[in-house]
Amino acid sequence: MADQTTSIRLIRVDDAEVIAAHKARDRQEHAPWEPAQPDGFYTTAGQRARIEGLLDDHRRGDRWPAVIVAGDEVVGQVTVSTILRGPFGKGFLGYWVATTRQGEGHATRAVAQTLTVMRRDLGLRRAEAHTRLENLASQHVLRANGFRPWGIAHAHILVDGAWRDEIFWERLLDEEPPVA
Ligand SMILES: CC(C)(COP(=O)(O)OP(=O)(O)OC[C@H]1O[C@@H](n2cnc3c(N)ncnc32)[C@H](O)[C@@H]1OP(=O)(O)O)[C@@H](O)C(=O)NCCC(=O)NCCS
Repeated sequence: MADQTTSIRLIRVDDAEVIAAHKARDRQEHAPWEPAQPDGFYTTAGQRARIEGLLDDHRRGDRWPAVIVAGDEVVGQVTVSTILRGPFGKGFLGYWVATTRQGEGHATRAVAQTLTVMRRDLGLRRAEAHTRLENLASQHVLRANGFRPWGIAHAHILVDGAWRDEIFWERLLDEEPPVA
């Protein structure tokens, strides 16, 4: 049986190969939910360059880019981006899980752990996310982690060949997470 334990850690450049393999295999399945990427995104070299950029952002304090690990296998990513400090104290949450490991609770647990990092390590007070109206799995993950929808942004993101409406979600980080 697949390992059901979930952990998160900062992404490393040597994660590039496994991430490229997941993203190449899942390109069609993820297409309705994530912006289109150039072909280089699906290669190890492309992912190395991308991860180096993510880590540059992390050193500047703009982003907290992590991988989701099941047992000792990297199965996805969770990233806090657009970190705003000062009077906002918030970050935007994004994530994906490999199709080979979906439905095992990894995204739900990884988001719970990321909320703890946002509150305890990054000192933020608010998490935000957005989902397409049709992305019921992602909405399930957010609801399980105490996010509430607060509006719809029209024509908000270019995904799968058209500008799509999205639900905006918020989570105040001084509230305790409802999941372990
Ligand atoms: C969204 C995503 C990250 C979920 O990952 P996951 O590890 O499978 O999520 P979990 O197993 O933690 O939870 C998914 C929940 O949604 C439910 N779900 C899945 N598909 C569903 C659907 N079509 N309708 C309703 N619920 C659904 C599952 O039953 C599960 O609920 P449960 O915990 O009560 O069993 C994954 O599907 C993914 O990577 N999708 C493509 C990228 C993406 O959409 N990213 C988010 C962009 S906003």
